[in-house]
Amino acid sequence: MLKISKITVAHQSDGCITDTRPSIQFALESDIPGEALDYAVISCGDWEMTTRDQINNLFGGELRPFADYKVHIRAVGTSGETVEADTSFSTGRMDTPWTGKWITDSTYSFPKKESPMPMVFRKGFGVKKEVKKAWIHATALGIYEIELNGEKVGRDYFAPGFTSYRHQIQYQTYDITGMLSADNTIQVTVAGGWAAGAYTFRRVSHISCDQQALLCEIFLQYADGSLEKIGSDESWLVTEDSPFALADWYDGETFDAAFRWDDCRWRNADVTKPKGNPKLLAQYGDPVRIMETMYPVSVTTAPSGEIIYDFGQNFAGIVCISVKNGRCGQTVVLRHAEVLYEGELFVKSLRTAKATATYHCKDGDQTYTPRFTYMGFRYVGMTGIAPEDLEIKAYVLHSKFDTVGSFSCSNPMINRLHENILWGGRSNFLEIPTDCPQRDERQGWTGDIAVFASTACFNFDLSRFLNKWLLDLATEQSIGGGIPLVVPRHGDVAPPLVTACWGDSCILVPWAEYLARGDLELLRRQYPAMKRFLKGVKRWAAYFSFHSNERLIWEKPFQFGDWCAPGENSKQWGAKGKWIATAYFANSCGLAAKAAAILGEQEDAVYFEKLKTRIEKAYREVFTDGKGTLHKEFQTGYVLPLHFGMTEGEETIVMARNLAQMIRENDNRLATGFPGTPYLLFALSDNGYPELAYEVLLQENCPGWMYEIQSGGTTIWERWDALRPDGTVNVGSLADGQDEGDGGMVSFNHYANGAVGDWLYRRIAGIEPISGGYKTFKIEPIPGGGLTWAKARHLSPYGTIVSDWKIEDGNFEITVTVPVSTTCNLVLPDGTSRVLNSGVHHFVTKQ
Ligand code: BGC
Repeated sequence: MLKISKITVAHQSDGCITDTRPSIQFALESDIPGEALDYAVISCGDWEMTTRDQINNLFGGELRPFADYKVHIRAVGTSGETVEADTSFSTGRMDTPWTGKWITDSTYSFPKKESPMPMVFRKGFGVKKEVKKAWIHATALGIYEIELNGEKVGRDYFAPGFTSYRHQIQYQTYDITGMLSADNTIQVTVAGGWAAGAYTFRRVSHISCDQQALLCEIFLQYADGSLEKIGSDESWLVTEDSPFALADWYDGETFDAAFRWDDCRWRNADVTKPKGNPKLLAQYGDPVRIMETMYPVSVTTAPSGEIIYDFGQNFAGIVCISVKNGRCGQTVVLRHAEVLYEGELFVKSLRTAKATATYHCKDGDQTYTPRFTYMGFRYVGMTGIAPEDLEIKAYVLHSKFDTVGSFSCSNPMINRLHENILWGGRSNFLEIPTDCPQRDERQGWTGDIAVFASTACFNFDLSRFLNKWLLDLATEQSIGGGIPLVVPRHGDVAPPLVTACWGDSCILVPWAEYLARGDLELLRRQYPAMKRFLKGVKRWAAYFSFHSNERLIWEKPFQFGDWCAPGENSKQWGAKGKWIATAYFANSCGLAAKAAAILGEQEDAVYFEKLKTRIEKAYREVFTDGKGTLHKEFQTGYVLPLHFGMTEGEETIVMARNLAQMIRENDNRLATGFPGTPYLLFALSDNGYPELAYEVLLQENCPGWMYEIQSGGTTIWERWDALRPDGTVNVGSLADGQDEGDGGMVSFNHYANGAVGDWLYRRIAGIEPISGGYKTFKIEPIPGGGLTWAKARHLSPYGTIVSDWKIEDGNFEITVTVPVSTTCNLVLPDGTSRVLNSGVHHFVTKQ
């Protein structure tokens, strides 16, 4: 029977409130083999469309603000079966002017490099008639939380979220219908957050405003049909007196439970205005929520006497403590760290971040959890109370997206690696894709997500998350095509330049998301940014490319090079810049050509294809002997041309052989940095060296993924030797010869090297998208590494794809699930292939 298994509006299963035209998607399930959508009719009021597409169905009806829409879908399968289902969505304000005004306390000032005290706004209001529905629209400069009659409104953390505030700010909609009484008090706490608080490793504050500000509107829809609006204005009260003595991303939070609101000094709020002219848009990204609860797996006492709770997993979030018999004057201090050294918390790698929650108790039993900060940690060190009087757990915080991928196989270490990769994503997808969740950084470094996006999109449904971030990226691109090194470019002083890998995020990220979800609108919106970037790169290459006639060697203005390549320093990484940049340039042209063809930009597609060929030629001419050997040999120098399809014929064979030899000479160990590591195993397995790929994957000596696992890693590290074999932590500095611990660069939760997750899915399990959203895909497993079975699932927009194989009695057996409306090209290890339509398929071949 044909079934509609899922409907989304603007990539949301329910509760979509939008200010822009949403797209409607649906997935089908059926037990009829080979079933596919013949056509569907999507209708709403007097709007109707007939479509053969399950993904890209833009709502075409008239959109009015504050309206509810019921959408009906009737889908007809190629079998002739029909199925119907409904969904709904609402519109937000669209461009409706706000009754509320931006308000602040203009008398409040705070030092330049510090976070402000949270500002608290308060207003009382009565409800005189029967209320049918009531809701709040709110946003802030800073991060806010609303309490209505003492109760938290909604479940979000860090609203309004992090966007490029100069360009766009989200507003939230909260239903408060059930929370009202005759007399009400709304209280909104606005902490500094990203807009006003200290941010970046330079710890600059006041980035978007000099004081926090709030914009709020309460809607009371009465049963008699009338509507009352209460907007934020000068009649609201404001104070910086509150239980919060500190709220800072890096240093943490200090909370005084004994604080008495009666003692605080209120004044009337002042009207203000945000800088620039940002668009206010109904929430279009995923809000941050509590996604999981963690409990300590052990409690120990450090030599210093600090009680250490081990949560068994490195993650981003906040603790939640319950204090028994607390007394006023008692202070519980909770410090956070990723690793222990000699039984103590190791906090040097946090650099200036104090990552501490300080709780001043009141009398009696009480609970506390921070609200305006988060930490990246596995261990919590506690002082100030007897452990028997404290219960502690922790909440995992990240943007609310679904996990859509799973992977397991017969090697438990690879399974742990997959888990670590998942945790790397969860810990760093909090509002924006961050580099790390713990030290004084947590910024949207573009290079990290550029290399991790493909793996991330396999694991998580990042449609809304990346859609939001990519809008910031596009709006912050410079006229010359430069992409900021961090997006949002918030507090970062570097100008937006064209930089390889980091800048290529403008192509690699939307392309990864397009392949996973098939969202054409996203590709269309991001395409001009791709073009502008490549134009900028070409210009810089032409200016400074003295090496070849092609003038396509890209080096300037600045390259990170082989960032984080093991055993080298930043100077050595940078010295490999032009090889890496030129290869990335070729690859991005290839992807831009594909995007252009999909979007019907035929001329562009031809142009970029030709440009790619010319860049390949330049790479060959300038960097190699013309036959596949690099003048200056390094692993990434081979990996990139091999994986980016820049080589041909015998040259490919020579390059692959050279790479393999370099790896063997390095005792089967990798020597690649961020830009090369994601593609290393592909370069090997796809060019005749699958067993060597497995050996590098399974390498237990440093550097290697299994070294991290053997050393007890529960996430992916920034540096392979973050923890040395002797148990010491390598707080390596960027420059050679500097002392350790001077504020170096070692994080235990940087996802970039987790990009190997892609190889687990695409080569071990063999699942690879061919067209957007897995409308067509390939399954071509490469068994090896002693594995006897592997199984991966991916929930595509069409439904679940499964590759499940095992080797038994000399036979290779595989079960494959193909969703309705998709086609799979199955290639078995014996070289045979078949085209499969929807259904579950089983094959056995001789090994
Ligand atoms: C970040 C990296 C980032 C790099 C670029 C580091 O501090 O943590 O992940 O990509 O800087 O310079």
